[in-house]
Amino acid sequence: MSNNTLKIAVVGGDGTGPEVTAEAVKVLKAVGKIENIEMQFDDFNIGGNRYLKTGITITDDELAALRRYSSILLGAVGHPDVPPGILEKSLLLRMRFEFDQYINLRPVKLLPGVETPLKGKGPDDIDFVVVRENTEDLYTGAGGCMKKNTPDEVATQTAIYTRKGTERCIRWAFEYCRKRNNPKGKRLTLVAKTNVLTFGHGLWKRTFDEVAAEYPDIKTDYNNVDACCMWMVKNPEYYDVIVTTNMFGDIITDLAGILQGGMGVAAGGNINPDKGGCSMYEPMGGSAPKYTGKNVINPIAAINAAAMLLEQEGYTSASQRVMKAITVVTGSKMKSQSAGKMGFSTTEVGDLVGENL
Ligand code: IPM
Ligand code: MN
Repeated sequence: MSNNTLKIAVVGGDGTGPEVTAEAVKVLKAVGKIENIEMQFDDFNIGGNRYLKTGITITDDELAALRRYSSILLGAVGHPDVPPGILEKSLLLRMRFEFDQYINLRPVKLLPGVETPLKGKGPDDIDFVVVRENTEDLYTGAGGCMKKNTPDEVATQTAIYTRKGTERCIRWAFEYCRKRNNPKGKRLTLVAKTNVLTFGHGLWKRTFDEVAAEYPDIKTDYNNVDACCMWMVKNPEYYDVIVTTNMFGDIITDLAGILQGGMGVAAGGNINPDKGGCSMYEPMGGSAPKYTGKNVINPIAAINAAAMLLEQEGYTSASQRVMKAITVVTGSKMKSQSAGKMGFSTTEVGDLVGENL
């Protein structure tokens, strides 16, 4: 293996996670052959299953080992027998924080042949990107409770915003918007709630306006988050790139995800853009226990995540090749994007993308 080898850590995780990452790896290997990219894949056994057996979520050694990869391909973490919060906080959020993956990149693109619940809207109308801050806000775990389980219980959950965290995300979003170079015009929309969250989102708005001055080629706009939810349904074609806070980004990207065809296709990247940074790419769907082991889950989202990985690693033509192949498969082969209704099995969908590279 040379220094140029693209080394990818694969964390299949729980439920259908390993099934979809297997298809993503299959496609990566195939595109690597065509584009002459040397690749190495290393599997990590991390997730709810192991946690149930051993009580271990992730060890310091595993974190140290993962940190050495510039890319992690994640399937899903989540197990019906593990109480909510444990795996989310000590696995997924732990990795996002430990590796300082401060950008959560969530492209929202309706592919040909994919159904959207929006009447009268097609692939030309639903094509935007959400840049979600990924390390601050309500997610830091700041807060606590007193007198738990009594009538006098007091609970706080504090949203934390730093100038540094805000600025690096906004700056990255401006750069991304410039590179994306939307033929319909470059526009970055800040989504927040400055009318109520005057301290935290005041910081976001002031930072946004300051940084915007350095990007005169990009039009800017501001939406309150509640209004954004209405516009996104009514006029999705308005958006080019959205930049937003962690919590609001979480919520609006589920709405956006369903507009682009749902969890079978939506993917996200948890990106540390700094030199030597470790990033993690994942399908947005969960572990889907009821479909596990049946070879019926849709692997397109995981393959989308793999295309994003290639793009961020600088393999633009390989990434575009994968995206084109996905488009052929959704546009002219698959019957539906829902698990069990695709007209093909999970492995067949992966094969089809591979054959169309
Ligand atoms: C997501 C998920 C996570 C989040 C959960 C599982 C912690 O909903 O990736 O959007 O809230 O970020
Ligand atoms: Mn979410």
